[in-house]
Amino acid sequence: MTESGTGRPLGGSGISVPALGVGTNRWNASGPDQARLRDTLAAALDAGMGFFDTAEAYNAGRSEIALGQAARADGRPVLLASKFAPFPYRVTTAQFTSALDKTLERLGRDWLDLYYLHFPYSPRGVGTWMRAMARAVKAGKIRAVGISNCTVTQMRKAAGVLARYDVPLAANQVHYSLLHRKPETDGVLDACRQMDVALVAYRPLGGGAISAGSPGGPGRSALADTLREVAATRNATAAQVALAWLLKQDDHVIPIPGATRPEHVRENSGALSLELSEEELAAIDRVSAPTPVR
Ligand SMILES: NC(=O)c1ccc[n+]([C@@H]2O[C@H](COP(=O)([O-])OP(=O)(O)OC[C@H]3O[C@@H](n4cnc5c(N)ncnc54)[C@H](OP(=O)(O)O)[C@@H]3O)[C@@H](O)[C@H]2O)c1
Repeated sequence: MTESGTGRPLGGSGISVPALGVGTNRWNASGPDQARLRDTLAAALDAGMGFFDTAEAYNAGRSEIALGQAARADGRPVLLASKFAPFPYRVTTAQFTSALDKTLERLGRDWLDLYYLHFPYSPRGVGTWMRAMARAVKAGKIRAVGISNCTVTQMRKAAGVLARYDVPLAANQVHYSLLHRKPETDGVLDACRQMDVALVAYRPLGGGAISAGSPGGPGRSALADTLREVAATRNATAAQVALAWLLKQDDHVIPIPGATRPEHVRENSGALSLELSEEELAAIDRVSAPTPVR
């Protein structure tokens, strides 16, 4: 358990990022709400959450375009992370380089702060893509390398390959929330601590179920009730309590709640200053069992 704080190291990369980022998988440059997305980005920067997560796969590149447009319109510095999808037809380094260049073009940037391998399932395996990542670091196109949806074995493989190029594995982005505590039982959280790798927590609000006050769905309301009770005594919201709980698990944990509305970003930022007590943490733990590994 650690202080929530406002900044966290991105593993051993030397880069510090806000303790809470913003997920943009619902951002879409072809959608009707570009002004709202620009306001969402501005609200994140105002709140000290200027670390944005996108991927080439989100809305077929249109999340990256919307994020790039909003960042340019705002003009303030932002930290940007995106992801390479190792689709089965992608087998060469040239395909990797082309995908990265297209991501940079969509974002309107010459470099990325963090580039992830989106998932490990690939005919070429994690090692091939880590070599390509290391070369992209040397070429100045990315500052830090991450992986996503990876097991401890895949983390060790990735870190081992990157180490040959003196590049640290900065992050493993995995599903982690009060509704999905698998990283606590499958060894990933422990490995992040031991290897000094950031655990970037995706879907930290259960895809919106936690913030809507219905975690677990009908018939499983113990968690919802407890979050509401803690929130009420702290003049906070269930989303803030759920994010504060994640921040308190370890200072390697960096949640990236998805948001397309500035009011959601502003609300979520309240978690940065919400320090849960040991009693509150214990009450939440009692109604949120760690997810067993299957
Ligand atoms: N690596 C991977 O394989 C992977 C997989 C899934 C997601 N991700 C990343 O993780 C990010 C977060 O995951 P997610 O977006 O799926 O789920 P999430 O963060 O758990 O939930 C996002 C949903 O919660 C809503 N929300 C956010 N803050 C709220 C608040 N304070 N009150 C009420 N509702 C609120 C959002 O609504 P609005 O949109 O209306 O603001 C959105 O519908 C994604 O955006 C993406 O960048 C990565």
